[in-house]
Amino acid sequence: MKYVLGIIIAAVVIGGIGGLFRLYRVSAKNKKEMAQYENKSAEVKNDLGKVLVVYYSLTGHTKDIAEKIAAKTNADTFEIKTKEAYPTGAKLYTTSKKEIKNKQYPVVEALPDVTAYDIVFVGAPVWWYTVAPPVFSVLEQLDFKGKKVVPFSTQGSNVGTFFEDFAATAKNAKILQHADFNNMDKKYDKQVEAKIADWINRL
Ligand SMILES: Cc1cc2nc3c(=O)[nH]c(=O)nc-3n(C[C@H](O)[C@H](O)[C@H](O)COP(=O)(O)O)c2cc1C
Repeated sequence: MKYVLGIIIAAVVIGGIGGLFRLYRVSAKNKKEMAQYENKSAEVKNDLGKVLVVYYSLTGHTKDIAEKIAAKTNADTFEIKTKEAYPTGAKLYTTSKKEIKNKQYPVVEALPDVTAYDIVFVGAPVWWYTVAPPVFSVLEQLDFKGKKVVPFSTQGSNVGTFFEDFAATAKNAKILQHADFNNMDKKYDKQVEAKIADWINRL
């Protein structure tokens, strides 16, 4: 009994230290990335024409980036909403994992009409190292014929195969350079703005 308890305590302690170490590594990586944008301008000089920003966001990070992109490009926005709400807590993880594994994506309330736009940004959170299922659902139902599409993601730290999977699902899209955004501390807001501007200016 004592032996088992010892193993459990050791596992919890090692797991905790591992978690802290990962957090430290991500935070150091974020700091290094943001340092690149320390003194860069947040101004967009590139005229992209008529822009639509389509996004799904469960907890607000992707919405925040989508709104920043829209503000810089004079874009319209379209928020993807699922007909049924996702469960919370651990069930969110098991439900979404099953959807991704079976490629059975949730029904969405409405689809964006992309016809009037020259360029469509599409943003999603990374879920299970790929595109969050509500965005897969929309990508499967749209035809991007003749449209430039710019994917973007938000994530803790690991995008996995998000952009490859996105490109494989967005039918007939001419995919431009993507950008991915780790969830950042508020103190990096200015640098995130500069990162978005730098990316858009290079499209
Ligand atoms: C079900 C689920 C799976 C996730 N999987 C990943 C992942 O594979 N890699 C990662 O870096 N972050 C992952 N995250 C974290 C989210 O990508 C991140 O918090 C994202 O910015 C959330 O966007 P939102 O606030 O717009 O919903 C996951 C979050 C959830 C809820």
